[in-house]
Amino acid sequence: MIELKHVFKRYPLGTEALSDVGFTLAKGEMAFLTGPSGAGKSTILKLICLLERPTRGQITVNGHELGRLPARRLPYFRREIGVVFQDNRLLNERTIFDNVALPLVVAGMTGDEVRKRVLAALDKVGLRGRERGFPLALSGGEQQRVGIARALVHRPPLLIADEPTGNLDAALSDDIIDLFREFNDHGVTVLIATHDLRQIERLKKRVIRLGAGHMLGAA
Ligand SMILES: Nc1ncnc2c1ncn2[C@@H]1O[C@H](COP(=O)(O)OP(=O)(O)OP(=O)(O)O)[C@@H](O)[C@H]1O
Ligand SMILES: [Mg+2]
Repeated sequence: MIELKHVFKRYPLGTEALSDVGFTLAKGEMAFLTGPSGAGKSTILKLICLLERPTRGQITVNGHELGRLPARRLPYFRREIGVVFQDNRLLNERTIFDNVALPLVVAGMTGDEVRKRVLAALDKVGLRGRERGFPLALSGGEQQRVGIARALVHRPPLLIADEPTGNLDAALSDDIIDLFREFNDHGVTVLIATHDLRQIERLKKRVIRLGAGHMLGAA
C-alpha cells in the first residue's frame, strides 16, 4: 500500500532531511513511525500525501507511483488518503458538521449524501449529536476526533497521522490511538508518526524507526 525505495529529500537551503529511506507498509497493516525530533517523520508523511516531492527515489501509494502521477489526478489521489495533524486544523468559526463536510463539499458532493457521510463519520468517532456545535466548545481530545472524522469522511483506504496525540493527556491519547486501531481492525491501513513510546509499547504494532534521516529499522 505504501512503498518507499531509496528516498532522499533535501529541502531548499536545508540539510538532507532523508537519506536513503526505504520501507513498505502492506495493505491492512498498522505501524508507528518513530525517531527523535528532526529525524524526518513529518517529511515522510508529507511525501506520502504529496505535500512535498522527494529529491530522489521512488514512492508508491495505493498503487500509484507518485513521480508519475499526472497533476490532474492529484485531487483524486488526495481523497484516497485521510490525513490527521497534531493541531487538527479545524475552522473555529464553522460548525463541527461543516468542518467534517468540507472535503466532500470541496469535491463537489451535495445534499443528502454529504449529510449521511458526515453523520456516519461523527458516529464512528463518538461525536454523533454534536454536529451543530463549534470546535472551541469541545475538549482537545474531542477536537482531535473531529479532525479524524474529517480525515475519514471520504472513506479512504489509508490513514496517516502526524503526532495525533501530541497535545493530549494520557487517557485521551489512549482513546485516540484505540480509535485508529479500530479503523485498522476494519481494514484501514494506518501509519502514525509519534514520539509516544507509551502508545508504541501498549499497542504492540509494527515500529519503523528513523534516526537523523536514516532508517534504523522497519521490523
Ligand atoms: N520546509 C522545510 N524547509 C527546510 N527544512 C525543513 C523543512 N521541513 C523540515 N525541514 C528539516 O528537515 C528535517 C526533518 O524534519 P521533520 O519535520 O521531517 O522531522 P520530524 O521527525 O517530524 O521532527 P519532529 O519530531 O520535531 O516533528 C529537520 O532537520 C528539519 O529542520
Ligand atoms: Mg514532525
